[in-house]
Amino acid sequence: MQVAGVGFGPSNLALAIALRECRPAGTGAVFFERQPSFGWHSGMLLDDATMQISFLKDLVLLRNPVSSFSFLAYLHDRGRLADFINHQTLVPSRLEFHDYLRWAAERVGGVVRYDSEVLAIRPVSGDGVVDQLELVVRDGAHREPYVCRARNVVLATGLRPRLPDGVRASDRVWHSADYLHRLAGLPPEATGSFTVVGSGQSAAEITNDLMSRFPEATVHAVFPRYGYSVADDSPFTNRIFDAAAVDDYYLAAPPVRESLMNYHANTNYSVVDLDLIRALYRRQYQERVRGVDRLRIVNVSRVRQVRESGGGVSVDVEYLPTGERTDLRSDVVVFATGYRPLDPRPLLGELMEFVELDDDGMVRVGRDYRLCTSDKLTCGIYLQGGTEHTHGISSSLLSTTAQRAGHIVESLTASTPQ
Ligand code: FDA
Ligand code: NAP
Repeated sequence: MQVAGVGFGPSNLALAIALRECRPAGTGAVFFERQPSFGWHSGMLLDDATMQISFLKDLVLLRNPVSSFSFLAYLHDRGRLADFINHQTLVPSRLEFHDYLRWAAERVGGVVRYDSEVLAIRPVSGDGVVDQLELVVRDGAHREPYVCRARNVVLATGLRPRLPDGVRASDRVWHSADYLHRLAGLPPEATGSFTVVGSGQSAAEITNDLMSRFPEATVHAVFPRYGYSVADDSPFTNRIFDAAAVDDYYLAAPPVRESLMNYHANTNYSVVDLDLIRALYRRQYQERVRGVDRLRIVNVSRVRQVRESGGGVSVDVEYLPTGERTDLRSDVVVFATGYRPLDPRPLLGELMEFVELDDDGMVRVGRDYRLCTSDKLTCGIYLQGGTEHTHGISSSLLSTTAQRAGHIVESLTASTPQ
């Protein structure tokens, strides 16, 4: 196999399409995905949620504007092109974009093995150099894990849910990533009160959803900020998500990278769409007019401890200005406390001895997303995600997915000509 992809979310889906379009003679590619079928953050597929990005930044358009895998081609295929145009929006619902991604995934389905988790990637030596990689794969069809050899691997395993230290997920303590899955199993007697921790997009969407879904329930929103902060999606700033910004970031010295990250973190982290902030405020205000006070903002506060007892959860909350502690009790606590970036080290295991590290112990990555390795390893190991330190803030997002897939195909072609 020339290329093995680990994970089949939007990043490796875009790569599968790019391989098909750029190397039609046959790519020798296979992609392993641990989910039983295609799914993109399905625990957060809320009815009202919209995309955080223009549909023009789909899987292909910025690489190949005439691709048959574009969002517009999908709309045409579904018979909704005119209706979408009349909708006059650049940001489809997450449900619709999910359907687009699934449509595209089905069209390249032949290269994907679902229900297949890659457990490890190991070096295979020949003549003193590592010229093959061995992926250890567990799937539903085999009793034991099996191995698959490849010349190149592309890791696109996505973000990992982050819970505060000491917090463990359970039936009553959830991470936002599992929100809809957990909600489906919630007994009716556990729907009187909720605590949502965090003030990012996930927290605001879940708070809004709980308020709508359970009109009698009280919802405590706990976060360290004073109020929800708005996501900066203004036009000049939005250029930070362009491919040109990736070039600039990649060339910049570490202090410049750090300042760019700090200046523009509010385009993505711990921020919320203004429309949603306004909707939450309006809802709280209107309820107060009616004498109801069920959205309780617990601001400038951090969760210090969580304890489950007697069919509920107690959250020990510190009010940061005074250090005062309050015991907040609710039926369920949802931690919308964000994600950790892709970390290639656990999967690469002993291969890490061939990978170059920078002064901060982070992996060195080429502009073409290929890990920098010693000359004792001639295989390509590519990252889609986990490159914020080298390629900037768009690394975990969809903004440059189409172009990144193109860069990787070019690099694969240059290093392993057919
Ligand atoms: P993604 O996480 O989508 O996919 C990784 C895949 O790898 C998963 O399917 C997983 O099952 C699989 N996998 C992991 N380990 C594996 C293993 N060992 N073996 C086999 N398979 C494995 N960004 C944006 O630009 N616009 C937006 O609107 C949004 N919206 C959004 C909503 C929500 C709720 C979240 C949490 C995030 C976003 N994002 C976003 C950011 C998000 O990271 C991005 O949209 C993509 O999901 C990135 O695609 P990837 O394919 O890299 O990861
Ligand atoms: P996030 O932006 O990283 O926000 C995490 C939040 O948790 C922050 O407000 C953080 O506070 C808070 N937090 C962390 N630990 C805490 C603690 N101990 N006590 C209280 N608060 C704590 O995560 P996210 O909202 O999940 O967003 C992640 C990504 O997913 C973003 O790219 C976002 O755009 C995307 N997303 C998109 C959609 C959509 O497309 N509709 C929906 C949801 C998410 P600080 O202020 O201290 O950081």
